[in-house]
Amino acid sequence: MQTYPQSNYANSSKSSNVSETEVKTMLFYCREGYESDLAAELEHHSATQQLYGYSQLVPNSAIVKYHFYKALTKQQQTKSFPWQDLIFARQRLCVLGDLEFTDTQDRIGSIIEYMSQFTDIEANGLGDVFVEHADNEKGKEVAKFCKKFTVPLRQALRKKGWLTKKSHTGLPYLHLFLSDSSACVIAMSHSKNRHSQRLGITRLKFPPEAPSRSTLKLDEAIQLFMSSAQQSNYLQKGMTAVDLGACPGGWTFQLVSRGMRVEAIDNGAMDEGLMATGLVKYQAADGFKYQPIDGHVDWLVCDMIEKPEKVSVLITQWLTKRQATSSIFNLKLPMKQRFQTVNELLAEMSSKLSEHQILHQMQAKHLYHDRDEVTVIVRSGAHLI
Ligand SMILES: C[S@@+](CC[C@H](N)C(=O)[O-])C[C@H]1O[C@@H](n2cnc3c(N)ncnc32)[C@H](O)[C@@H]1O
Repeated sequence: MQTYPQSNYANSSKSSNVSETEVKTMLFYCREGYESDLAAELEHHSATQQLYGYSQLVPNSAIVKYHFYKALTKQQQTKSFPWQDLIFARQRLCVLGDLEFTDTQDRIGSIIEYMSQFTDIEANGLGDVFVEHADNEKGKEVAKFCKKFTVPLRQALRKKGWLTKKSHTGLPYLHLFLSDSSACVIAMSHSKNRHSQRLGITRLKFPPEAPSRSTLKLDEAIQLFMSSAQQSNYLQKGMTAVDLGACPGGWTFQLVSRGMRVEAIDNGAMDEGLMATGLVKYQAADGFKYQPIDGHVDWLVCDMIEKPEKVSVLITQWLTKRQATSSIFNLKLPMKQRFQTVNELLAEMSSKLSEHQILHQMQAKHLYHDRDEVTVIVRSGAHLI
């Protein structure tokens, strides 16, 4: 059943006195080529949350739409399908409508007029606006147009009094998703249930002293999985870590930059600059056999290219033997049934930790800087406070 009205601006079926934003469709962004993995994940959440519908995807479009059979309540709009729980979704948006620009001379006018149907947006206001496109080759062609469009749109929204002067993270954001210059999807994201940056991409600067680009993966994981207060509490000067598969040292670099002491394990060569800090102890050893020098570290990080089944068992052993309090690690993805494989491995890990009475929090994401892998964090003990 096609639930969302295909509401073309010129012949929209919405009446002009609609006061509540009706949402029957969500729009999710993902890495190009991962649409079916995200769709499998959405089907899974749909079943567990008993919010039924169906997903719509085009391979390599870098987006997936999920159409619900029933309109979502306000609470479901803000809380269901939590972005934090979704592994393959970069962004989670509630769709207000599809708008075709019949008047290409005044696209902004069309948007403003379309949006004036939703009086609750007018009443509550918008904290920011992003004009977006897919993160793929086709999207790159639209990117220039999106950029040109943003400033005048912001001005028009401010003139109407709908958009705050400065970005306000506590309010919904407006997202216009353009597949070309002739039409757009109008959508909203909700505070605490979205990626806060444009396109759902964490933009990071590569530190020139870092020995490998992999450093950005751990940096992104830290930024995404922990608040700034948690980062400064749990990754402090004097804390300890083991880095399995450490060479040349991009992940170790992130930990050392925070003043931590690291045991770096790999058969390869470690970056000399990192070794000169005096904070790194290097051992040429097999990461699957290594034991921590003092029996326990605050963090175990692992970026070894190995079967995900082997890595998840290894991390579970460290945590259940209380050799590490928390861990950030990568699971390399199989070719098929990627969501199902990861979901099963994480469920298995979680149940093993619970068997050992280890209270824990787990989150996994297909990060912007990940390739065919996902990054997982498991926090326990003092790192849960
Ligand atoms: C993707 S690289 C790690 C990059 C590193 N995280 C960085 O940021 O520079 C994977 C590393 O895992 C190491 N590795 C693979 N299997 C290993 C094992 N069994 N024990 C130790 N290191 C291993 C490889 O030698 C390689 O250096």
